Amino acid sequence: MEPKTTLGPLKNEIEFKDGVPVSLLFDDVYFSKQGGWEESSYVFLEGNQIPSKLAKKGHSIFYVGELGFGSGLNLFVTLDFWKSIPSPPQVTFMSLEGFPLKRDILLTLNKSYPDKKLWSEDLLSSYESAINLWTKDPTQNLWTYTWNHSSNQSTFTLQVFFGDVRLSLPQFLKIHSWYLDGFSPGKNPDMWSLDTLKEIQKKSNPGTSFATFSSAGFLRRNLTELGFVVDKKKGFGRKREMIFGFLK
Ligand SMILES: C[S@@+](CC[C@H](N)C(=O)[O-])C[C@H]1O[C@@H](n2cnc3c(N)ncnc32)[C@H](O)[C@@H]1O
Repeated sequence: MEPKTTLGPLKNEIEFKDGVPVSLLFDDVYFSKQGGWEESSYVFLEGNQIPSKLAKKGHSIFYVGELGFGSGLNLFVTLDFWKSIPSPPQVTFMSLEGFPLKRDILLTLNKSYPDKKLWSEDLLSSYESAINLWTKDPTQNLWTYTWNHSSNQSTFTLQVFFGDVRLSLPQFLKIHSWYLDGFSPGKNPDMWSLDTLKEIQKKSNPGTSFATFSSAGFLRRNLTELGFVVDKKKGFGRKREMIFGFLK
């Protein structure tokens, strides 16, 4: 089947339930209503042991890979942590997004977390310019934005590839830690297909970690077949289990 988003963004209606954006296209939430920020920290940062990895010296650039960008919450949680360390390594946060959210939806995130630095006007207009460019010319699908660390010693670079996962993932560089966050597998099989997982393996080195809120059996089996060590732990909030692990 042809990727859905080759020719620019598809209509993705959003509605809010308990203050959390819900995609009507995928019939799923962008993050948990029981504390999105805490969920993201628990599942993706802790699941990938990002705090200890960023504390270790030795990475010239640390690459995070995310499937899908959504509201940017995982980005902001990671960026917030990186800003809090005295002398962190350079980070490149590579993400992808086929159905970019609109300004008014993104701004609700700022209201949910008023004490955090999230969508600034500068970041939003840079995002919108990149989407406009992509809409006019689908080959121009990369949005880049950079933050400097207060120590002035390091930068955090965001790269988001707009378009379908099948077109964007092959454009990623080798990743140190994966955030697999593409809606639930039952509702969005494309983000968890064997082809997607094979591409993730291709873009990993031995030791590359992954974490996801899902613990679906087929996902555990496919990741294991592809050479990942897969572990389970208690999921966030009311979720029973989540999985995490690394490539052997
Ligand atoms: C659960 S949301 C991501 C939440 C996000 N990480 C955050 O911090 O807000 C899943 C994202 O995957 C995107 N997505 C779903 N299917 C896709 C596909 N086939 N290609 C690219 N992006 C896709 C959705 O548009 C959505 O933004």
